[in-house]
Amino acid sequence: MNVNGIPTRPLRPLTADGAIEIIDQTQLPHRLVWQRIDSLDGCAWAISSMQVRGAPLIGATAAYGVALALAQDGSDATLAAALDCLGATRPTAVNLHWALTRMAQTLRPLPQADRCPAAWAEAACIAEEDVAQNAAIGQHALALWKDLIIADDQVFNVMTHCNAGWLATVDHGTALAPIYAAHDAGIPVHVWVSETRPRNQGLLTAWELAQHGVPHTLIADNAAGFLLRQGKVDAVIVGADRIAANGDVANKIGTYLKALACADNGIPFYVAAPRSTLDFACPDGAAIPIEERAGDELRLVTGLDRAQQPAHLRQLPADADVANPAFDVTPGWLVKAIITERGSCPASREGLRALYPDEVGDD
Ligand code: MRU
Repeated sequence: MNVNGIPTRPLRPLTADGAIEIIDQTQLPHRLVWQRIDSLDGCAWAISSMQVRGAPLIGATAAYGVALALAQDGSDATLAAALDCLGATRPTAVNLHWALTRMAQTLRPLPQADRCPAAWAEAACIAEEDVAQNAAIGQHALALWKDLIIADDQVFNVMTHCNAGWLATVDHGTALAPIYAAHDAGIPVHVWVSETRPRNQGLLTAWELAQHGVPHTLIADNAAGFLLRQGKVDAVIVGADRIAANGDVANKIGTYLKALACADNGIPFYVAAPRSTLDFACPDGAAIPIEERAGDELRLVTGLDRAQQPAHLRQLPADADVANPAFDVTPGWLVKAIITERGSCPASREGLRALYPDEVGDD
């Protein structure tokens, strides 16, 4: 999508240089900083420190991380070490493991000398597939909304949580893909963006919507229920980090509360995600590993100081006892539909089986 009118992606391969460039998302929304990464360790750090974040983007970045590692040599040991290192960066987004499994399956049968160029090519395929799948998600969701919700000449008010826009993917975003599609089609759309404490990914959403010219309003997380009850929201749509085989959805902490408030107010709650977010080996939400992040994400507040320099402000003592689960699980029965590149379905085993008949078992 656009930054200052220029089509931009958060990840650019510099294949001839043996490197990638990423937008350092820890510096947004204050500064747009590109960072060059040319090593496995740099790539692993970018993922674990959330310089890159968002489930599909984590997967694509990890795929390029394998290519960076294989520049050293194409041996089995180097490949295995890269897969281990990248696989340990973040636990919840299954796209990471999906991408690494795909890289391993592609590369292991090849002669060692061929593995590095093949890794670059496969990573590029993963990235381009993500772009195409997210664009398809946008069109499927828009079709649903046109049929169900969007009335002529009415502003369509949609709420989202966290950042599931183009910054979280290779392009388009998942939850934001239909919002961009609606806006680009001339449909009047307004987005309620929740701040998403403690990492404030909602600020990334507000930034990218502003860059693309989509009307939006930032709210504190705790304002969501009030607005939903006031009838100011036509639909809620979020992304996902892992969807279990029964349709339970892991997404950024706070998602579940929005789904509950939607159920109480009769507002449809949608989840948008590509195939790489579906974990058919995971039976239900209780089996999804939930990342627990560092307590300083709560104890410190990040922003710009009076001199407009990046700064941390302490709001709690270093030894204050805090808990920081990064994701929660929304049971499938609270989800109106899961929207993927193949279309939409109920958030249930049967629903997912109808969209992916080869991948969901019978039990
Ligand atoms: O911790 P993050 O910022 O990587 O979490 C991101 C989310 O929870 C997104 O909602 C999810 O990955 C969907 S991305 C299109």
